[in-house]
Amino acid sequence: MSTDAPAPLPRILSGMQPTSDSLHLGNYIGALVNWVTLQDKEFDAFYFVANLHALTVPTDPAVLRRRTRETAAQFIAGGVDPKRSTLFLQSDIAEHAELAWVCNCLTQFGEASRMTQFKDKVAKGQNANVGLFTYPMLMAADILMYDAAYVPVGEDQRQHLEITRDVAERFNTRFGEGGLVVPEPYILKESAKIMDLTDPESKMSGTNSPDKGLLLLSDTDSRLRKKIMSAVTDAEAEVRYDSEAKAGVSNLLVIHSALTGTRVEELERTYAGRGYGDLKKDVAEIVVSTVAPFRERMAELLDDPAELDRILADGAGRAREVAVVTMARVREMVGLPPRAV
Ligand code: TRP
Repeated sequence: MSTDAPAPLPRILSGMQPTSDSLHLGNYIGALVNWVTLQDKEFDAFYFVANLHALTVPTDPAVLRRRTRETAAQFIAGGVDPKRSTLFLQSDIAEHAELAWVCNCLTQFGEASRMTQFKDKVAKGQNANVGLFTYPMLMAADILMYDAAYVPVGEDQRQHLEITRDVAERFNTRFGEGGLVVPEPYILKESAKIMDLTDPESKMSGTNSPDKGLLLLSDTDSRLRKKIMSAVTDAEAEVRYDSEAKAGVSNLLVIHSALTGTRVEELERTYAGRGYGDLKKDVAEIVVSTVAPFRERMAELLDDPAELDRILADGAGRAREVAVVTMARVREMVGLPPRAV
C-alpha cells in the first residue's frame, strides 16, 4: 500500500478592496458567486480583504477599519466558508509588504508606467500617490506569496496578472527555477456584467455609480425595490436583449438570468407582449430574495465581533504559515540573511 500523502490541491487566490460601505450585486454575481463555486471544487482557496491596497485612496481610518470588517463579513455571508477557504486580512500578514518591495525591485519603471488602470485613474484626475503606482507589485506579492496556481479575477485585472507573471518569471530567471510559482489567470466571464441602474452603459461600481444606480447587499428590501422600479430603460415597450440599443432592459434581463439560472432567450419569450413594469417587479422580488438572507447573515456576523475576530485570526494563522515559508525562500534566494530572531 502506498503511504504517499495525497497531492495537494492546486491553490487559488483572490482579493477585493474594502473601498465602499457594502459590496453590490455586481461584486456578488461577478466575483463572490464564483469564489464560492471554486471553493467547493478541487481547489485550496485563499480569499482576502485587500486593505493595504485600499490605502492608495485616502480614507478616514475609522471608515477603513469598519469597511474592512464589513467586507470580510460579506464574503462569509455570500458563502465563503472559513473552514474550507482561508479567509484573511491582507494587513495581518506583514510579509505582503515585504515581498512587494522585492517585486518593486524586479519591475522596470517603464513597465509599471504602462499599467492602464493607473493611467486611467490619473487621467480621470485622481491625485495619485506612489502607492497607487506600485499597486500592481503589491498585488503580485499577494499572489506569489501563496504559490497560487490560479487567480480568479475580472477582465479589468488581466494586465495586473500579466505583470505578476513577468515578475515571477524574472525572479526565477535571475535567482533560480522553482523560486516563485507563475500563476495562470482565471478570468471570470463578463457575461454576467451588471450595469449601473441609472446609467446602464457603465458598469455598476461601488466607487463610480450613484447610490440609485447600485444594488447594495446592505440595502433594505424597500430600497432595492425602489431602485429597480426606477431603473432607466428606454422608450420602446419590448422586452428584448440588446446591450447597445436597450442597455437598461438588457441589464435587468442579465440580473434575472444570473440569479435564477434562466437563459436570457427564455426570459425574452416569457416577457413577450408584457411591459417593463412586469419585468421590473419580478427582478425586484428575485433580488430581494437573494439579498435578504445575505443581509441577515451579515448583520449576525457584525453583531458578534468576537466571532468575526476569531475567524479572521484563524485565517491569518493559516495564511501566515505559507507566507513565512515563501518569504524565507525569497530572502535566501535574493541574498538577504535569514531574519534574526
Ligand atoms: N486589484 C484587485 C481589484 O481591485 C484586488 C486585489 C488585490 C487582488 N490583490 C489581489 C485580486 C490579488 C486578486 C489577487 O479587484
